[in-house]
Amino acid sequence: MKRMLSGIKPTGRVTLGNYIGAIRPFVSYQDEYEMFIFVANLHSMTIYQQPAELRKNTKDLIALYIAAGLDPNKVTLFLQSDVLEHAQLGWYLGCLASMGELSRMTQYKDKVAKGEVIGAGIFNYPSLMNADILMYDPDYVPVGEDQKQHVELCRDIAERFNSRYSETFKIPEPLVAKVGGRIMDLQNPTKKMSKSEETSKGCIYILDDINVSKKKIKSAVTDSESYVHFDPINKPGISNLLEIYSTLTNRTIEDIEQQYVGKGYGEFKNDLAEIVGSELEKIQTRYKEITTGSYLDDILEAGAQKARFVARKKLAKVERKIGITIKKR
Ligand code: TYM
Repeated sequence: MKRMLSGIKPTGRVTLGNYIGAIRPFVSYQDEYEMFIFVANLHSMTIYQQPAELRKNTKDLIALYIAAGLDPNKVTLFLQSDVLEHAQLGWYLGCLASMGELSRMTQYKDKVAKGEVIGAGIFNYPSLMNADILMYDPDYVPVGEDQKQHVELCRDIAERFNSRYSETFKIPEPLVAKVGGRIMDLQNPTKKMSKSEETSKGCIYILDDINVSKKKIKSAVTDSESYVHFDPINKPGISNLLEIYSTLTNRTIEDIEQQYVGKGYGEFKNDLAEIVGSELEKIQTRYKEITTGSYLDDILEAGAQKARFVARKKLAKVERKIGITIKKR
């Protein structure tokens, strides 16, 4: 079985973008791949998190993974902070990355451009992410479009390590869905839907009240025409809604366009609002069932054990190769 690995940061509430770009694809791969899926709580520390909120968001994210359909018996689900080896490998890999490479990462550049005061964690962010990935030798890393650049840097660093110290890491491939890899803000469809923007009208949260989520779809910005057609440059709003429709129904965009020939945006949006509402309702019902009791703690403990087993072996191998371990085998 080929292996996949991915993670999500527990910052803010989980969005429809996270669901369509990441969680839903994870669920669809779980029967075909050996999967490691984690909560990137160390990465969330790069921006201040109110401790009680961080705890809640972490718990919610694990619960939502499962509520969305990830089966803990098939997938190794864990918290990044439970596997200490990530931070250690992150240090070694950080020493292999150049300042130039790290400062070219869009996520870092955007923060600098906004003139925000940024911690060193944001700059070093990709090295920890490289460790998350390379630790497990995945064949694929399923992510949304915005994370592709990070996975590409990870490939470069893995190649650098392998050529300096001999073959150690598998070179991972980013896997970005053609449709749904970049869900846009409903009020500003030229901007990515993002959990860090608390402009909640343009962003649907998985735990939003169902009626609120429907309203957000119905009031999504479109254009002055009235035919449902996919054209991201000239009709970014409708194109974004078409991507949401297509991924949630597993239908092609062409097929959906056909269905709405001669019908206006109102009918299209009403139907999509129902589709989104019923998808969220399914997830929320299951979420309520699993957030009671100690079910999640048990899953995290079992997941951490499985992940640590792989991580310890890998880190020991790395440390032998680079000369940190002085004992002969
Ligand atoms: P994060 O938490 O920002 O996002 C989690 C996943 O959701 C995807 N995503 C989207 N996809 C489509 N449309 C959107 N609007 C949208 N918004 C977010 C992201 O692309 C991502 O796949 N650095 C990562 C977390 C991470 C990680 C890793 C991922 C840490 N280590 C190792 C993969 C492998 C992040 O901040 O994702």
